[in-house]
Amino acid sequence: MKHLKLEELDSQLERNQLSGFWRTRVPLHASEAPYLWKWEPLLDGLLKASETIGIEQAERRAIRLVSPHLPIKTTSHTLQVTFSIVNPGEVAKAHRHNMAAIRFVVQGKGAYTVVSGEKFFMEEGDLILTPNWTWHDHHNESEDPIIWLDGLDGPLIQSLNILFFEDAEIPEQPVTRQTGESLSRLGFARTPKRDETHLRGVPFRYSWKDIYQALKAMKEADGDPFDGTLLRYINPTTGGSTYPTMSCEVQLFKAREATKAHRHTSTAIYHVFRGRGRTKVGEGYLEWKKGDTFVVPLWQWHCHENLSNEEAVLFSINDRPVMESLQLYREEAGN
Ligand SMILES: [Fe+2]
Ligand SMILES: [Fe+2]
Repeated sequence: MKHLKLEELDSQLERNQLSGFWRTRVPLHASEAPYLWKWEPLLDGLLKASETIGIEQAERRAIRLVSPHLPIKTTSHTLQVTFSIVNPGEVAKAHRHNMAAIRFVVQGKGAYTVVSGEKFFMEEGDLILTPNWTWHDHHNESEDPIIWLDGLDGPLIQSLNILFFEDAEIPEQPVTRQTGESLSRLGFARTPKRDETHLRGVPFRYSWKDIYQALKAMKEADGDPFDGTLLRYINPTTGGSTYPTMSCEVQLFKAREATKAHRHTSTAIYHVFRGRGRTKVGEGYLEWKKGDTFVVPLWQWHCHENLSNEEAVLFSINDRPVMESLQLYREEAGN
């Protein structure tokens, strides 16, 4: 048999949709740069959008945080953050999707989200869950606009090419449950009825009042060396993470508290709910204050520091449950 030149072999393979391993290297983890979005331009954009984007598109009146370091327009490669503003009297039409979503209320009160037939009222600091494939519509019957942070596992779901979305036939779903029913059924129950859908997460509201009380109560105990006083929002039926794809967390740093550095294979997006400080990521610092949002990409060394004499509170979402369920979670402590 006549010896082929390597180039000829390569092109012969290429013509047949084949590729020799001698030509390629599997790309290893590429470190991503962190990024911080300041509150002021975001708020300005939201206020302008509230005047420019009409009521008929209220459910589209959201602004996405886009990292300049990623090939697609998203906040991180797995999770996405947008901010929504809903004016008094508006309804954001009912729909559902198999992206799991959370709302964390940043400003305003008196609005509510209906999820699977139950009204969940929204006040500053509240976290409302709309799990994968649950119907949801948003209403603002208060006097003032309301602003919230939406956290979604959209980029992850899109990367799996499995994203489904459905508009409801009627703009407002019927309310079929008592307000607070989910808390009574799930929040205090020891052995709640479980079914498949509970594993995806449950429609639920974690009130800021309760969360803050818990944070305060824990504050005097020794916090986590890497995360200060940290609470995870757990799925009340499983005791596991908020969703299979996303964990929601909140952490408090006491006046001037500084944490030790660590790194892990999960990515986190933080929103500054109170206070001001800085987070060292790699060799650089992200200086933050109330309203700012920032991303700490996976496997980057990071530590937090409260720069004021007041407490600082960070709300965050991360993809740790994905890494854990795939046996890919790894964490290292710094020196
Ligand atoms: Fe939605
Ligand atoms: Fe961390």
